[in-house]
Amino acid sequence: MNRRYRKTIIAGNWKMNKTASETKQFADELKTILPRAKWCDVLVCVPSVNIPAALRAFKDMRVTVGAENVFYEKNGAYTGEVSADMLKDLGVKYVIIGHSERRQYFGETDITVNKKVHAALEAGLHPIVCVGESLEQRELGVTMDLISLQVKSALAGVSAEKLRKCVIAYEPVWAIGTGRTATPEQAGEVCTFIRATIRHMYGARIARSITIQYGGSMNPGNAAELLAQPDIDGGLIGGAALKPDQFVAIINAANQE
Ligand code: PGA
Repeated sequence: MNRRYRKTIIAGNWKMNKTASETKQFADELKTILPRAKWCDVLVCVPSVNIPAALRAFKDMRVTVGAENVFYEKNGAYTGEVSADMLKDLGVKYVIIGHSERRQYFGETDITVNKKVHAALEAGLHPIVCVGESLEQRELGVTMDLISLQVKSALAGVSAEKLRKCVIAYEPVWAIGTGRTATPEQAGEVCTFIRATIRHMYGARIARSITIQYGGSMNPGNAAELLAQPDIDGGLIGGAALKPDQFVAIINAANQE
């Protein structure tokens, strides 16, 4: 973390978990144990149907509500999809884009990720752009080439001014939901590389100010070590974000003076 230059963001990614009533239950429980997080922002990204329930439930807490996906067209005949304007109008601030599960199960590509980033920015949302290599790619030694390609493709055509609204999440696919976390050094190395890539694209000042999260089996036991890496500015957390006590333990790790 480097709080002098950029925000630390602890974000939950609920994926396809929790009903609207379970959302309220989570918020009620969280309320009793949530610390005054002075040093980090807390965000919960929920399934789109639960967004209104989440906005109500987290209203009086310092917890921001985000979405897990968005479609890139403004409106039209796209049955089942949700537009950036719809999310913005509800009061959503952040949206996860290009999560590896979307790439793996729903055919998202670097091209659609780029279109979604533009649509989100256009609507005034903050995209959380996910990048990450598979185990095979890591073993082939092409991690940095792939990350560079993903970052450059996702941000193609994004102005420096708009980039200030973006967050990047490095999520090695082999660490997601597997209990197998990247070591702090492995995670830190890629996050430093992502910042260097952004420096080449946008210059040092902007690169210094962008929040880069790590995601992939982050939990209360490993959060402090991961967050101690200079270029890891928070976490995108799946499993551990579904339990208020574990989520709070990670927030506490990010909130150390
Ligand atoms: P995990 O998920 O923490 O359950 O590994 C992280 C993510 O997919 O964002």
